[in-house]
Amino acid sequence: MKHLMSPLDFTAAELDNLFDLAGDIEKFPAKYAHICNGKKLATCFYEPSTRTRLSFEAAMINLGGQVLGFSDAASSSASKGESVSDTIRMISCYADICAMRHPKEGAPMVASTKSRIPVINAGDGGHQHPTQTLTDLLTIRSLKGRLGNFTIGLCGDLKFGRTVHSLINALIRYPNIKFIFISPVELKIPDYIREDVLRKNNIPFEEVIRLEDSMADLDLLYMTRVQRERFFNEEDYVRLKDFYILDKEKMALAKEDMLVLHPLPRVNEISVEVDEDPRAVYFKQVQYGVYVRMALILTLLELSE
Ligand code: NCD
Repeated sequence: MKHLMSPLDFTAAELDNLFDLAGDIEKFPAKYAHICNGKKLATCFYEPSTRTRLSFEAAMINLGGQVLGFSDAASSSASKGESVSDTIRMISCYADICAMRHPKEGAPMVASTKSRIPVINAGDGGHQHPTQTLTDLLTIRSLKGRLGNFTIGLCGDLKFGRTVHSLINALIRYPNIKFIFISPVELKIPDYIREDVLRKNNIPFEEVIRLEDSMADLDLLYMTRVQRERFFNEEDYVRLKDFYILDKEKMALAKEDMLVLHPLPRVNEISVEVDEDPRAVYFKQVQYGVYVRMALILTLLELSE
């Protein structure tokens, strides 16, 4: 039985198969509309989410399956002190597959060791968010036709942003990737990413503060929100939250075929005037997120041919 904790749980070849399947789902949705008849997905969300949880639920419903679950820790037995290990043993009796989000790093991993059904990490604290990364990679591959040969700028909260950490881990497997990390000093990428992921693998990267200085070099720009819920004090959040605002003026400095991605939710970091720019693909990304989660559910349930 396979779980998904990190994007690296799949080889690059397995990811290619997954993306091909997602592409087929996009083209021929009717072919997949009943594959999961009688199957159930449990969404166990100990931390608020609309996008990811609804994306999983929409994915399962599109496959003809059903969904059950909870959307915050207060409405689950966690509020009575139940451990994730016990919860997943119980969920294993109710559902065929589980997507779990948790504020504690590693909680879905702990659950997977006790589970009789595949567990998907739907975001664990500031650590990883593998299905967002699958979404990001599918978006890039579909719109650019490749996953290598890019200079990618990651901008915003690179310290706490789990989508950033997962995406870096996944992208270093493709050829000729250069990273430009754009953040205030307080929100730079964690040391373990810099040392154990980038330096260890000789991946070229720069760390800069000003977004405007790098705009012209980028093939992809990945914007992120400042992760308020992971800050220790409100003052720091308020000081840093509007550090970057991508607007028309900055977009004018970028290449004509640069893509702007964002895992959403957006706060102020992308001005709404950018939404009309054809290079802004963050709402398309949401749609790719459903296709890739459909492909993932089929793969983990071993229902893909
Ligand atoms: C991201 C997350 O939860 O980490 N959101 C999402 O799943 N689309 C990004 C964020 O919350 O900023």
